Amino acid sequence: MKIAISGKGGVGKTTISGTLSRLLGRKGLDVLAIDGDPNPNLAVVLGLTNQEPPPLSSADLLERVEEDGHRRLQLKSSLDELLDKHTLSAPDNVRLLMLGKPEHAGTGCMCGSHAVVREVVHAAVAATSDRVTVLDMEASLEHMKRGTSKYVDALYIVVEPYYRSLEAGRRLAELARELDIKRVSAIANKVRSAEDEQAVREYCNRIDLPIVAVIPFDEHVMQAEREGKTLVDLNGQSTALPRLRALADQIAAN
Ligand SMILES: Nc1ncnc2c1ncn2[C@@H]1O[C@H](COP(=O)(O)OP(=O)(O)O)[C@@H](O)[C@H]1O
Ligand SMILES: [Mg+2]
Repeated sequence: MKIAISGKGGVGKTTISGTLSRLLGRKGLDVLAIDGDPNPNLAVVLGLTNQEPPPLSSADLLERVEEDGHRRLQLKSSLDELLDKHTLSAPDNVRLLMLGKPEHAGTGCMCGSHAVVREVVHAAVAATSDRVTVLDMEASLEHMKRGTSKYVDALYIVVEPYYRSLEAGRRLAELARELDIKRVSAIANKVRSAEDEQAVREYCNRIDLPIVAVIPFDEHVMQAEREGKTLVDLNGQSTALPRLRALADQIAAN
């Protein structure tokens, strides 16, 4: 199962990716969480603090090959070798691969560049395995423009109940259709009232985008962030967590 999470900056992609990863891991699934954001923070949401991932160098990862007169990049080692070397272990059976961060600035390393991220994401998503892969992406589908999208089982577009976020969601949904992604749906996040929910429902209805989950605005999410904890580790009455748990159940059942 491969799921990708996108949406405008700040809507809650990383919070949702990280929490879902941990919840899926708790079900005994083998989870690979991929942080494809140039400004990575999935590690914290997964409950990893002060841990730097094993350095990733594009020269170690990729090589150029000629194919039908075209030069392209490909992974040097097998995906499993790459994952063994370059992932961090988070609680609940989750492994984290951090890709987006432009590393070794000034050393000519292409890490974090779209080309490198795209190649590695492609390899991870195209691989056949029993693992659940959760992709936390930027507010674009840049990393999927390599035929990667056909391997993605579901794309969740996170939206907040305000116009610019919904507009960004609409554009992403259009792109996703162009890329032929099988299941595209929205997650309404930071919903504060019945009116909020109604506004998102009306908008999504108009653009024919189904909503898989409605997650309330929840102080516990902020609290977890302040305390450097993850929502699943926080003791408290989170209102967002049960909704995410229901979504994880749904994903696991597929
Ligand atoms: N349901 C929610 N309730 C309250 N705050 C939230 C919720 N979801 C996310 N946030 C907060 O919104 C901010 C942005 O979330 P983040 O997951 O980093 O977004 P993105 O990855 O889309 O940029 C964070 O401060 C996070 O704690
Ligand atoms: Mg993020």
